[in-house]
Amino acid sequence: MSELKGLILSGGRGTRLRPITHTSAKQLVPVANEPVLFYGIRSMVAAGVTDIGIILNPETGGEIREVTGDGSRFGDGVSITYIEQASPDGLAHAVLTAEPFLGDSPFVMYLGDNLLQGGITGLVREFREKEPAAMILLQPVEDPRSYGVAELTDGRVTRLVEKPAEPKSDLALVGVYLFTPRILEAAKAIEPSPRGELEITDAIQWVVDQGDRVEPHVVHGWWKDTGKLVDMLEANRLILDTIERRVEGTIDEGSEVSGRVVIEPGATIERSVVRGPVVIGADAVIRDSYVGPYSSIAAGGVVERSEVEHSILLERAQLIGLEGRIESSLLGRDVTVRRGERTPRAYRFMVGDNSEIEIL
Ligand code: G1P
Repeated sequence: MSELKGLILSGGRGTRLRPITHTSAKQLVPVANEPVLFYGIRSMVAAGVTDIGIILNPETGGEIREVTGDGSRFGDGVSITYIEQASPDGLAHAVLTAEPFLGDSPFVMYLGDNLLQGGITGLVREFREKEPAAMILLQPVEDPRSYGVAELTDGRVTRLVEKPAEPKSDLALVGVYLFTPRILEAAKAIEPSPRGELEITDAIQWVVDQGDRVEPHVVHGWWKDTGKLVDMLEANRLILDTIERRVEGTIDEGSEVSGRVVIEPGATIERSVVRGPVVIGADAVIRDSYVGPYSSIAAGGVVERSEVEHSILLERAQLIGLEGRIESSLLGRDVTVRRGERTPRAYRFMVGDNSEIEIL
């Protein structure tokens, strides 16, 4: 089998993560202070896949290019080619858009908002050894209706349906696929789905219908599609559970910092309690506060006279003087939540479209 290429789909609009995605790509939302997208790129590189194409949409593509670069930050010999998909016409349409990049190479396709524990090295090896026309990853889920769903008969893939109202199995399609160029033929042969998209699920079904072998691989480690807030927070928790302690910022004597924490250079912790797993970005300030497990505070964040836990704060977000504990929250860049000084005491908001505020 010739060299495998990588294709990362990063064109999704992220409607379920608004308002964050009004101003930034969902694939750049940080998990443990690193864009989700980088985990996919790194797992490809670890599997020896270094020629990587990234599909972008014209609105958020510029930012993704800027942050991700030409690939050199991910290692020697890593090259990233950006490919614009003019309209969001489905995952199989994205594959067709990438045809000039893919040529006749087999490839691993990775949805840019997916996170897969254990990476893809073993999967790439299995694909090379077995040489099927395609390999799909599956995982049993509680509610399969928001995923592609596979039916197996005697261990063989027989049927794939995208987001079925009445799923025939609990096996969801994980957003990582291994393909031969057969999938390009399939993408050209299928018709748009009722929602008007060329579905990758239908393209794989076409390959099955041609009598070609589609290898199912059930994933046992965790897998997260980070398209929604709860999943994003869960991904953050899972990744933070794997970090090693590293303290490069400063902690004063009045603070107590315990467990696995990463404190980046320039960050300061004053008179505070920090209980890992937690990451605190460069130049962040934690003062007279409590930062509890599963929190990621990005660079320049400020937590002052407040308590926060199980949350993600993006760059320069500030929490100041709050009475209740903030939890299970995602705060965008430069967001400030603070207690006002004036009376009468009242809630005052200036909040963007699609924001959600829950007061306990
Ligand atoms: C896409 C695929 C679906 C797959 C899912 C995995 O759905 O269409 O088959 O199960 O990714 O993350 P989307 O997340 O775009 O709704």
